[in-house]
Amino acid sequence: MKINFFTHTAKCGGAEFSLIDLIRVAECEKKKVTLLDSGDLVAKLKSFDAEVNEFHRGNGYFEFIRKLFYLKTSFKGYDIVYSNSNRAYLWALLVKLLFFKRFKLIWHLRDAMDGNHFGIIRYPVCLSSRLTGVFVVFNSEYTRSAFRSSFGKDGLVIYNGFDMKNFSTNEVSNQSSPYKIAMISRISPWKGQKEVIKAVANLDFNVEVLVCGAPLFGEDEYYNEICREVEILNLKDKVKFLGNVSNVPKFLAETDINLVIHASTLPEPFGRCVVEAMLTGIPVMASNLGGVPEIANKDSFAYLFDPLEPNDLERGLKFCVSSQQSLMAKAKQADKECRNKFSYENLRESINVFLRNVYEN
Ligand code: GLC
Repeated sequence: MKINFFTHTAKCGGAEFSLIDLIRVAECEKKKVTLLDSGDLVAKLKSFDAEVNEFHRGNGYFEFIRKLFYLKTSFKGYDIVYSNSNRAYLWALLVKLLFFKRFKLIWHLRDAMDGNHFGIIRYPVCLSSRLTGVFVVFNSEYTRSAFRSSFGKDGLVIYNGFDMKNFSTNEVSNQSSPYKIAMISRISPWKGQKEVIKAVANLDFNVEVLVCGAPLFGEDEYYNEICREVEILNLKDKVKFLGNVSNVPKFLAETDINLVIHASTLPEPFGRCVVEAMLTGIPVMASNLGGVPEIANKDSFAYLFDPLEPNDLERGLKFCVSSQQSLMAKAKQADKECRNKFSYENLRESINVFLRNVYEN
């Protein structure tokens, strides 16, 4: 079985980190990664000995045709094309139809195809899954139900898996002030950085927010806007922008952090940082939307808040500060459960059974 993993971007976001994990555990005779761009992801993939084809963008009239032929060549000889994004799926489908290719096509859905994230275009895109024989996989039950409500076909939920070797318990955080809150995600309007900054401005205790991540997909205007907000609210001493953190598990284990906050204002399809925080034993506060409640057990582990309720974020922060002790104990408990649920072993087993089925189907 020869598998060609394919995604449209070469930037490193959550979907791409999850792709790396997949590639590492997939068992097959030959594997390669095809990217429709060139960027940081290439070096990351190569550090895991993956064979990578990157695309160097030009800007001529024939760019579209150049991409098609690049993909046709890159997919040649492979039994399965495993698309890791919606765009990748559409490109792979086009290549398959235009050039009568026989490869099996997999579409790993990591975006929630709901009305919040996508307009009516989602209907024909999801519906196409019923007509093209594509095999679908979802990163959470939420992603699955959103896809099915938009006329997409059913498929398997495979949760992300994490390399436990990289995670160790955070032993450095203590309860001295300031209370340190970390946000780990790309900078984007729906990831909630602005809401957290505003909430922090209203708190009357000493906090520090570490904003990790960068605007990856053209969200620079939003980034400038939140930087301005920090100045206007006079929070320069309290809000630090750290940019992309290259090794999140190490950062979480070695930095003084009292709380990881995940504040997406729209349903998050999965939410890697919630698991990553739990795996380092750091308390988490997260939006009770999308796939997050599947990951973080509402009763015992994370403090879930309602981002649509105006004051809930602020209320949640106050609660987390005042319950520091008990949250830390719960975080240690979460660590244990997470190690089973999101292990590489689970991922390895489910993905390889799935790949075999697709291949033999
Ligand atoms: C996408 C989703 C994110 C998820 C990641 C990995 O980036 O937006 O929620 O954690 O894929 O599946």
